[in-house]
Amino acid sequence: MLEKLTKWKSTMSSQEKSKDIDDINVPKHIAIIMDGNGRWAKQKGLPRIAGHREGMKVINKIVRKADDLGIEILTLYAFSTENWKRPKTEVDYLLKLPERFLNKELPTLIEKNVKVRLMGSIDKLPEHTKKAVAKAVKDTENNTGLVLNFALNYGSRYELMNAVKEIAQQVERGSLQASEIDESVLTEHLMTAELRDPDLLIRTSGELRLSNFMLWQVAYSEFWFTDVLWPDFNEQHLVEAISVYQKRARRYGGV
Ligand code: FPP
Repeated sequence: MLEKLTKWKSTMSSQEKSKDIDDINVPKHIAIIMDGNGRWAKQKGLPRIAGHREGMKVINKIVRKADDLGIEILTLYAFSTENWKRPKTEVDYLLKLPERFLNKELPTLIEKNVKVRLMGSIDKLPEHTKKAVAKAVKDTENNTGLVLNFALNYGSRYELMNAVKEIAQQVERGSLQASEIDESVLTEHLMTAELRDPDLLIRTSGELRLSNFMLWQVAYSEFWFTDVLWPDFNEQHLVEAISVYQKRARRYGGV
């Protein structure tokens, strides 16, 4: 444990390199589409799963840095509802990563007051994945620091469709009037119900799309895209994204 904490603290020196960031205006919620693991592996003549393994290591660095910078919520798109279309070996490997990551990192996350949270259709995940993530959520439920929100088997269209279904059921039962449905009602039925919307959305690997990620929640988020492949993403890229974010004027449709 001590060794792990020392490792965590050692990244604090990277704060020096964060001087182009204004501490006051740090985005409270950052959401990341971690893309490019496969291409990273291909470039190195390695199997795709080697890219995912390397991608998992990056999560650790970015969580530490986000915590150092005082970010409140970090949402990571780890597995989408569309990722089941991949070869079974790759899907199996991807769904082992949360367990591998948490087996190693959970004690440090607990120590650092990080609260692990999930969004997605968790029921449909393999037992071993469910067990690992359920333990992490339970063991960190009273923590009050950085919220680490893993999107696992998550798809925004499913989330919205499900919210509409739940609201329709309430109307059918008579516990809600159709005229009472407003944005806040829909928001309460999303998997992010108690989270603020992302202030900043990052996507790596040069792809310029949302891929069914938080379609409702990113309505007014700032987007930052980079060609860097996820396994090459590091603390300085995060700082750069925040620095660009801080130069943007957020008007929310106003002037
Ligand atoms: C997209 O890259 C990445 C994914 C589908 C998986 C992301 C998962 C991780 C980074 C690790 C997850 C770890 C934990 C602890 C949850 P891609 O495979 O689509 O890359 P490509 O577009 O280059 O093929």
